[in-house]
Amino acid sequence: MEKENEIQRNAPHALLSPPEILNSLGKIFEDADHLLNGSKDLNELDSQLRFLAGKKGKLTEILHNIHSFTPEEKKIIGSESNEIKKKIEGIYKNKKNELINASHNEYLLNRNRIDLTIPGVYIERLHTHPITAVLEEAADFFSSMGFEIVEGPEIETAYYNFDALNIPPNHPARDVWDTFYLLNGLVPRTHTSSVQIRTMEKKSPPLRVIAPGRCYRYEAVDATHLFMFNQMEGLFVDKNVRLTDLKGILEETVKYLLGAKKTRFRPAFYPFVEPGLDLDIECSFCGGKGCGICKNTGWIEVIPCGMVHPDVFKYVKIDSSKYRGFAFGMGFDRIVMLKYNINDLRLLYQGNLDVLSQF
Ligand code: PHE
Repeated sequence: MEKENEIQRNAPHALLSPPEILNSLGKIFEDADHLLNGSKDLNELDSQLRFLAGKKGKLTEILHNIHSFTPEEKKIIGSESNEIKKKIEGIYKNKKNELINASHNEYLLNRNRIDLTIPGVYIERLHTHPITAVLEEAADFFSSMGFEIVEGPEIETAYYNFDALNIPPNHPARDVWDTFYLLNGLVPRTHTSSVQIRTMEKKSPPLRVIAPGRCYRYEAVDATHLFMFNQMEGLFVDKNVRLTDLKGILEETVKYLLGAKKTRFRPAFYPFVEPGLDLDIECSFCGGKGCGICKNTGWIEVIPCGMVHPDVFKYVKIDSSKYRGFAFGMGFDRIVMLKYNINDLRLLYQGNLDVLSQF
C-alpha cells in the first residue's frame, strides 16, 4: 500500500502534497476571481468557468489524487475545495448578472442612440397662398389702426349689392357691375361694398371695419380679368371723418403693402360715394415712364374709394348731418399681382405648385 501510494504520488496527477493542494486551491481562487471578473462577455465567462471548475478543469485536476490521502487530509482538502468551488460559482453568478445587465443597457442605449451626424430628412417648407398671405398682412395692418374684420354672404340680394348702395334698378350705373344672377333673383355679389350696408345696419357709428372676400362678375377671362376675384372693403364712419383721413390711411396702406413711393388721387364715379376717387400708384414696372402694364400712363390704379354718400346713410338710417365716413374697395388680386410681379391673374388660381412655391 505504502508503495502504491508512493507511485500514485509520483504519477503526473499526483505531484502535489496536501499542503501544496491547499495552496493551489487558494491560487485557483485568486485566478478565478481574476479570470471570471475579467471576462468581457457571457461566452468568455462560461469558458473560464469550465477551465477552472468544469469536469476537466483545474479544480478537478488538482483533486485528481485525493483518494491517496488519509481520510483526515481528504476531509480538509474536500471541504476546502467545496468552499472554493462555491466561491467560484458565486463570482460566476455575480459576473453573469453584471454582463447580462450591461448587455441589456447597451441594447437600450443602441436602440435609443441619436446619431447627430446623420443628414436630416428634407422637409418641404409649406406656406400660405400668396393671396391669403397678403390678406393676412393687410388685416394685421388695419387691425393695428383699430379696424375690425367683418364678413358678408357671397350670394346677395340686389338690395344689398345695388339698391342700398344708391344704384337703383334701371339706373345706368348697374351696367358697370353687369353680372349674372341666380334663377331665384339673388346675385353672386359683384363687390364687397354690400358688406358696408350690412355692417351699418348692425352697428352704429363710430365704426371701423374691413371686409375681405370673393366677388363675381360677368367677365371674359384673360390675364387681368376673372369671373371670380377677391376684394377688400373698408369703411370708417365717425363724427369728424374727412377726406384727409381717407388720404392718409390709404397712402399708408399702399406704402405698407406695396412699398409705393409716389401716389395720386383721381376723381372717379361710384354711386355710393361722393366725392369718389381712385388711388393710383406710380407704375413700379417702368418707374412712371409708361409701359404695357400701365397702358403707357405711368400709373396703376389700386384703390377705388370715396366719402360715403349721404343717400347711403339714409338707407341704413345713419344721420348724415352728424356722421361722415369714407369707404374703399381694393381689388385684392391686383395688389398681390403688383406685390409679387405676377403678370397673369390666372396663375393665382390654378393651384400650380411650381408657380405657388416661389412665394
Ligand atoms: N365697390 C367698388 C367696385 O367694386 C369699389 C369701391 C368701394 C369704390 C368703395 C368706392 C368705395 O368697383
